[in-house]
Amino acid sequence: MPCPSTSDELVFFVNGRKVIARNVDPEVTLLSFLRKNLRLTGTKYACGRGGCGACTVMVSRHDPASREIRHFSITACLVPVCSLHGAAVTTVEGVGSINTRLHPVQERIAKSHGTQCGFCTPGMVMSMYTLLRNHPEPSEEQLMEALQGNLCRCTGYRPILASGRTFSKESYGCQQKGTGLCCLDQGENDSSSPSRKSDICTELFAKEEFLPLDPTQDLIFPPELSRMAENSDERTLTFHGERVTWISPGTLKDLLELKAKHPEAPLILGNTSLGPAMKSQGHFHPILLSPARISELSLVSKTSDGLTIGAGCSLAQVKDILAERVSQLPEENAQTYRALLKHLKSLAGQQIRNMASLGGHIISRHCYSDLNPILAVGNTTLNLISKEGKRQIPLNQHFLAGLASADLKPEEILESVHIPHSQKWEFVSAFRQAQCQQNALPDVSAGMRVRFKEGTNTIEELSIVYGGVGAATISAHKSCQQLVGRCWNELLLDEACRLVLDEVSLPGSAPGGRVEFKRTLIISFLFKFYLGVLQELKKLVKLFSVPDSHRYPEISEQFLSALEDFPVTIPRGVQTYQSVDSHQPLRDPVGRPIMHVSGLKHATGEAMFCDDLPMVDKELFMALVTSTRAHAKIISIDLSEALEVPGVVDVITAKDIPGTNGAEDDKLLAVDEVLCVGQIICAVVAETDVQAKRATEKVKITYEDLEPIIFTIEDAIKHNSFLCPEKKLEQGNIEEAFERVDQIVEGEVHVGGQEHFYMETQRALVIPKTEDRELDIYVSTQDPAHVQKTVSSTLGIPINRITCHVKRVGGGFGGKVGRPAVFGAIAAVGTFKTGHPIRLVLDREDDMLITGGRHPLFGKYKVGFMNSGRIKALDIECYLNGGCTLDDSEQVTEFLILKLENAYKIRNLRFRGRACMTNLPSNTAFRGFGFPQGTLVTESCITAVAAKCGLPPEKIREKNMYKTVDKTIYKQAFNPETLIRCWNECLDKSSFHSRRKQVEEFNKKNYWKKKGIAIIPMKFSVGFAATSYHQAAALVHIYTDGSVLVTHGGNELGQGIHTKMLQVASRELQIPMSYMHICETSTATVPNTIATAASIGSDVNGRAVQNACQILLKRLEPIIKKSPEGTWEDWIEAAFEQRISLSATGYFRGYKAFMDWEKGEGDPFPYYVYGAACSEVEIDCLTGAHKGLGESGMFLGSSVFFAIADAVAAVRRERDTAEDFTARSPATPEQVRMACVDRFTEMIPRDDPKTFKPWCIPIA
Ligand SMILES: Cc1cc2nc3c(=O)[nH]c(=O)nc-3n(C[C@H](O)[C@H](O)[C@H](O)COP(=O)(O)OP(=O)(O)OC[C@H]3O[C@@H](n4cnc5c(N)ncnc54)[C@H](O)[C@@H]3O)c2cc1C
Ligand code: FES
Ligand code: FES
Repeated sequence: MPCPSTSDELVFFVNGRKVIARNVDPEVTLLSFLRKNLRLTGTKYACGRGGCGACTVMVSRHDPASREIRHFSITACLVPVCSLHGAAVTTVEGVGSINTRLHPVQERIAKSHGTQCGFCTPGMVMSMYTLLRNHPEPSEEQLMEALQGNLCRCTGYRPILASGRTFSKESYGCQQKGTGLCCLDQGENDSSSPSRKSDICTELFAKEEFLPLDPTQDLIFPPELSRMAENSDERTLTFHGERVTWISPGTLKDLLELKAKHPEAPLILGNTSLGPAMKSQGHFHPILLSPARISELSLVSKTSDGLTIGAGCSLAQVKDILAERVSQLPEENAQTYRALLKHLKSLAGQQIRNMASLGGHIISRHCYSDLNPILAVGNTTLNLISKEGKRQIPLNQHFLAGLASADLKPEEILESVHIPHSQKWEFVSAFRQAQCQQNALPDVSAGMRVRFKEGTNTIEELSIVYGGVGAATISAHKSCQQLVGRCWNELLLDEACRLVLDEVSLPGSAPGGRVEFKRTLIISFLFKFYLGVLQELKKLVKLFSVPDSHRYPEISEQFLSALEDFPVTIPRGVQTYQSVDSHQPLRDPVGRPIMHVSGLKHATGEAMFCDDLPMVDKELFMALVTSTRAHAKIISIDLSEALEVPGVVDVITAKDIPGTNGAEDDKLLAVDEVLCVGQIICAVVAETDVQAKRATEKVKITYEDLEPIIFTIEDAIKHNSFLCPEKKLEQGNIEEAFERVDQIVEGEVHVGGQEHFYMETQRALVIPKTEDRELDIYVSTQDPAHVQKTVSSTLGIPINRITCHVKRVGGGFGGKVGRPAVFGAIAAVGTFKTGHPIRLVLDREDDMLITGGRHPLFGKYKVGFMNSGRIKALDIECYLNGGCTLDDSEQVTEFLILKLENAYKIRNLRFRGRACMTNLPSNTAFRGFGFPQGTLVTESCITAVAAKCGLPPEKIREKNMYKTVDKTIYKQAFNPETLIRCWNECLDKSSFHSRRKQVEEFNKKNYWKKKGIAIIPMKFSVGFAATSYHQAAALVHIYTDGSVLVTHGGNELGQGIHTKMLQVASRELQIPMSYMHICETSTATVPNTIATAASIGSDVNGRAVQNACQILLKRLEPIIKKSPEGTWEDWIEAAFEQRISLSATGYFRGYKAFMDWEKGEGDPFPYYVYGAACSEVEIDCLTGAHKGLGESGMFLGSSVFFAIADAVAAVRRERDTAEDFTARSPATPEQVRMACVDRFTEMIPRDDPKTFKPWCIPIA
């Protein structure tokens, strides 16, 4: 074990301040260093794997060769702090602050309403800031590229991009009017009436008021670092940690010596491959060699026959080098470079491309690699170097397969990569298909190259390599050999598909699943290549023509669209809102588009989230141990080894719970039995998070598996495994109605689950107070009263000793209604037992494992209708996959049944729903609470009726929609006026009917691309069907200086509830919002609150705030009357003098909701909200790619799903295949591709399901 005292000093700068770190541990990431050591908590942890961009910071380095300073964004969660020697790091705190000076990026993202919960915002700011450091007036393409690696789960990207676009010189707006104008720009010839102009607004901000971008205000690069880089120190630097040593040699010679001495030690460059493997696959390397200071690895040389690029160049640098080369070379020589460039644009996000090195990419040999297939077909050579000398090896199929004879020797390193020019009569193409267009690993990637005998179409050389279809990148080498000498025609294509499918065979049980999709992509890509080359050949020689064939049609206009990839375009959008009445006083903010009150703090990183709270005295960290079995008896739990891990203080088990261990069927900590993988069994408490996590792996649990193990809805039905009784609503006489209809259709619908993926994972901090067993709990929750109650029953202490605090929540979406109580309670047990404050922050992996998500659904429908499209009878039966405990599943089932009719009045209906019990983590509340899943069945049924009637679906929707005041299926009065208005307005604004015609025209002209269009209505009832939920309280204090503190029972989840409450208070008290403040939601100020959910948080709490303010104003009235010219401050001073209470509790006793399930009637909802959405999509029939994403939050996103279904139906009609295929949501590229049946889908081998065990199974 090396001695830590011999460690060198690590020197770098953070936000202009020099950091000298001694004894820094190589296992510590920059993110952890910033947050813990420097207390810079603006940089957030959300995924820990470089995938979301929440931890983005800017790194600047002086390049001694060019004497320029390079600024680039990186994800701090993957960067080892040791790699930063000589670098300057800028975090969001270094960019600007609300206390000093805001940076324009920060101001603009907030004012453009680009923040909601704000957890992603510092990362967004840093990506944009870095872009502006390099390009002060970025193009839209550059903006898109810069933000590719940043996820936001709340805002939608439109307002974020709108803020970035304000820096761009290019015009913005939707540009739908052509010539750069937005459809909402008023022109001289516009017919829009003046009244419309005045009450409908689009502007959320006035660009002219923004701070100008002034680069002179930016932090300068520390001159000391420039000097360090110029006078390069060739000393080897060594940093010793507890388990790992980091060695950074200053010369290539030293690096090679070290590699010879430590042949097993990996070279660490971007750490984007090593890092994730060390974090979650248990890879461990006691020595890491960092070649970052070796300039030889960054050299680039252009030769007459190719390009040699240093292995240490980042992928972003490679992209720039290739782009430059492509612009210099004749097209025929740059084919491989173009192909690489194409994939470099979509490989990961900008941050990863800035970090990942070319060498690391090649040597990692990931099976999904985007670049290796192209490099392999492009005849790339790897230039290796070791102490013994240099040699070259080809990057070929043997290298990719990891054959020892074709690989690097342990003491060798990759110095550079030689990529030759392509030649005339040679064509290179690259293909990839991923779940989405950007920042997603490919399902299948491919590189293909063909060289022809000059002037002919005879193949001289053919090379086809695939990624994603096996354990390694695979070459179809034998097939290619067999095809040499053949002519490039359709017979060849047929033969090539057959040979390649045979050679690149994928077993049914292949890891990653999606086997049939991948098989189809293998040959669909080949077809695209065939067509592309054919087209190029035709350009080159007019010598030959492709013979007619029925199998592969002549390359006509209709087929050309197969060659085009969907371009990555910047999403455009316009938001319109109704402006307030012109008589409304300026000071009254209600109805005005006010920026989120925390918006600026989100943007500067000063908004505090739960885990941003500073460490408290004697704080310990907790990590959870979870079940690895789906259904098993716990035989024994051995904690001895875990307790031996240095730093471990205790392990908390069910035996330590002083009060109640959750519910009988939903225990906080498992006792004798586990019901799913991910169920919490015990929790380790240690001095640091790293120690606690390491110790969880040492807890030894023995199990005895139990039967049955149920995962799918199908299995649950078979085993009669349900969580609660069936919920049913019925009206009319369905059986009789079915007898009188023209047609009956029956079908099935499958709707997959969904992860909440709130950016802030579940977390809690429990702090014991010194007296009376009081506890303060800081927790990220939508329901602090529930946490408080659960902690109370778990510890067996009264509720009044426990105070829950929620400042803000980094996204909830339903996932932080029930589960935070579990984490709060387990942490509280730890506090109770150890006497220490406990912090529990879930890793993204644990969060996804332990917590459930949206309920997957399986629905069956039977619908009876007349040939006109009028539906007479509808029978729907839904099954939800509830997971292993009840949680909210009964309520979700009720919601689903109550809302299933959506916008339609069908006289004879029967809706039934059941929640299945399976051995999966319990599913829970999720945006829409069952409504989106259920209504997808109803709308699918409408689509099926349309297909049978030969009518467009919108006609069936219109025909069956509520028309007049009526009663819902549960006999609540309902007036459809607004619903109909929304529908008509949407038809009108989207120019639906003319678009439908254009879609049809497009479809006639294009065989391999199809468009679809759909319009969907929505009637959504707000609130819970229980009276107790319709109440809220608020507490408003006015202080003697006139300032007002508002507290209420709602939680700030990003929806802006605090902003709205201040708007309400401002209107009621008739003073500006600047007088007001909300500091947090706390169970000590407003007790017995309900969860902030079901779309009523602002309604009920707003009324409570209003009530409190009205009480206060009433008390002030006599004073105001007496001195109407006085100021607010005067009145408050007078009120205090006169002993008038300046504090009031407001209360709202809301709607009386009831639902009698026996009778099937009730008055469950206070009111409805309505909407209609139209989407038009385009699909690539060969890959399943489509441009369209719909978040099913409030169901309107389903118009994307139905537009995709419309496009698929067009494909199937054209190809004479049955139109009624089973709809599966989400409409992934896999679903779309496999539904677009063609000769390629028919060509692939299908496995007999009995002969293999699939890698994954659908659970709905
Ligand atoms: C969020 C995310 C998204 C991604 N998306 C994609 C994607 O869409 N498509 C895709 O293809 N890839 C993707 N990747 C993978 C990425 O391309 C690779 O992880 C990356 O290129 C590896 O480079 P690195 O410098 O980070 O390697 P490191 O992790 O630093 O090293 C990886 C390995 O390479 C070895 N090595 C590195 N340099 C040398 C050298 N010069 N000589 C000898 N050995 C060397 C090391 O010893 C180590 O074993 C993604 C990765 C992440 C984290
Ligand atoms: S990218 Fe670092 S936390 Fe997600
Ligand atoms: S605002 Fe982007 S994740 Fe919440």
